[in-house]
Amino acid sequence: MRIYLKDVKNSEKVKIYIKKADDYLGEIGYTEHGFRHVGITADLAFKILEKAGFPKREVELAAIAGWMHDMGNFLGRENHPQNGAILAMRVLEEMSGDMNEIVAVGGAIANHEEPSGIATNPITAAVVLADKADVHRSRVRNSNPATFDIHDRVNFAVVKSSIFVDQEKKEISLNLNIDTKICQVMEFFEIFLTRMVMCRKAASVLDYEFRLEVNKTKLS
Ligand SMILES: [Fe+2]
Ligand SMILES: [Fe+2]
Repeated sequence: MRIYLKDVKNSEKVKIYIKKADDYLGEIGYTEHGFRHVGITADLAFKILEKAGFPKREVELAAIAGWMHDMGNFLGRENHPQNGAILAMRVLEEMSGDMNEIVAVGGAIANHEEPSGIATNPITAAVVLADKADVHRSRVRNSNPATFDIHDRVNFAVVKSSIFVDQEKKEISLNLNIDTKICQVMEFFEIFLTRMVMCRKAASVLDYEFRLEVNKTKLS
C-alpha cells in the first residue's frame, strides 16, 4: 500500500509519540521539537526535493520521514534517531507500507543527526537540510533570558530563517537573520559549525552546493 504524509499525520500512535517526545525534551530543558518543528521539517524536506526535481514519490517519502524524524526522543535524546527509526518502521509496517519505502524512511530518520548520521541518499539529505534549517526564536520554551543556555540563545537570536533551492546555480542556501544583541556570531558558530558541515554533505548528495548567509553576509 502507498502511504502518504496525511495517513501518517492521522496515525494516533504517531501523534502520541510526537507529543511524548516533545514533552520529554521540554522536561529536560530542550527547545520545541513537537508538531510545529516536525511540520516545518516535513514541509521543507518536501519543498527541497520537489524544487530540486526529484520524483514525486521520493518527495513524499522525505516529507513522511520529516514528520516522524524526532519522535524517538521520548526514549532518550542520545539514540533518538535510531529509536525513532525503529518506531517509524513499525508504524509503517502496520499500515502495510512497501518494505523498500519503509526502509528508506527508517534510514533517513536514523541518519538525521550529527555526529552519527550520514546522508547517503536524497531522502535523508532532504530531512537533514530541513531539520537544520528550523532554527528560530519561536522554538525557545525558556521564558527567562537570564537562564538561556547556548541552544536557547542561538535559537532566540534567529528572527528569520529561510531556505532556497536555486536549480540553475545548483545551490541550496540557508538565510538567517540573527539579532547579534542576543547571540554573538562566534557563539552562533559554536553550535552551527557541525550542523553546517552536515548540511554541506547533504546538499552534495543532491548534487548541490550549500550556502549559508547570516545577516545578508555570505559565509560559505
Ligand atoms: Fe533530532
Ligand atoms: Fe529535529
